[in-house]
Formats: sequence, C-alpha cells, structure tokens
Amino acid sequence: MINNALVLIKPDGIRKAIVGNVLTKLSETKLDILGIKIVKVTKNLARQHYQNLKDKPFFENLLNYIQGNIYEIPCNKILAFIYHGENAILRIRDIIGDTNPEKAKPTSIRGAYGRITTNGLFENVIHCSSDLIEAEREIKLWFKPEEILMEIYPTKEIITQEKKRVWL
Ligand code: PPS
Repeated sequence: MINNALVLIKPDGIRKAIVGNVLTKLSETKLDILGIKIVKVTKNLARQHYQNLKDKPFFENLLNYIQGNIYEIPCNKILAFIYHGENAILRIRDIIGDTNPEKAKPTSIRGAYGRITTNGLFENVIHCSSDLIEAEREIKLWFKPEEILMEIYPTKEIITQEKKRVWL
C-alpha cells in the first residue's frame, strides 16, 4: 500500500552532524521525497506534534528536546521530510529502529546514534509517524499544501488577506 510518512531529524541529529548518514540510511528504502524543510520548532508546534503524550512524565522534557533547548548551546532546528511510497511508514520505522535507543538494533539509526539522557529522555535522533492516521495529522501540522510536491491529501482554495513577507 502506498503511504506517506512524516520524518523529523531532531536537534541531536543536526548537532551531531549526522544528517548525511541518516539520509543515506533512509535512501536504502528508495522511497520518494515529496517535501523537505528546516524548521525552528515553537513550543506550540512541539505541543501539537506530541499532543498524545501530554500526560507522560517526560512530556515537558520532550518539548524542550524537540525545540533544541536541552543543550548548553541551543540547537533550535529540525529537518522535516515527507517520504512517500510502498509501505513507507513500515519501511522507515524498520530502518530507524526501536523508539528506545538501548533496545534498537545497533545497525538501525536510533541504535547507532541515539542515547538515553541522564534524566531518562530518549534522545533518539529521528521521528517517523507511527501509522496512517498519525502521518496525515503530522504532515498537515508541519507542511502547508503548497510545500508538498503532490496533492497527497485533498485541499480546497480559500481567499485570505493574511499579512505575509515577500521578496523585495
Ligand atoms: S512511537 O512508537 O515512536 O510512536 O512510540 P510512542 O511511545 O507512542 O512515542 C513516544 C515518544 O516519546 C519519546 N520519548 C519517550 N518515550 C518513552 N519513554 C521515554 N523516556 C521517552 N523519552 C522520549 C519517544 O522518543 C517518542 O517520540 P518519537 O519522536 O516518536 O521518537
């Protein structure tokens, strides 16, 4: 089944300068990429992304981590991708490994590059949507329709008068 997955390379992946290694591993899937962007994550975006985890004891730490605020020199950026193709979610999740970096296969992305911080947070380099419903919710949260190369979900046209910045 053709599906879409939101993939985030988290601030630790950028800080450790392993973006190239991670993308090389993901390219083994031969999946198509329909969207890419670099994002400074706001607290609001972090909260919405992890809304299902709001009752977990590590929630606030998780929000700080995805915003890149847990480091002495903050790293306030993540890279967001939309991967598309046959069983995209399953195949990416296989390559990235278990959520817990200690349980992940050593050859997986999280197994090779992730760690658990001293306060128990999984600093696991990469996120991938867990299922079709989450993928749709997450992609719509992180990307605007015009930032995606294909109409993967239905859109509608509206007329707005929103203030926006354009090139001089
Ligand atoms: S899943 O399968 O990745 O969707 O797993 P789930 O358990 O739903 O997601 C948990 C996310 O919280 C991050 N996180 C932790 N989980 C469990 N225990 C600890 N201590 C913890 N610290 C952080 C975990 O990495 C999952 O986020 P993502 O972005 O999916 O990795």
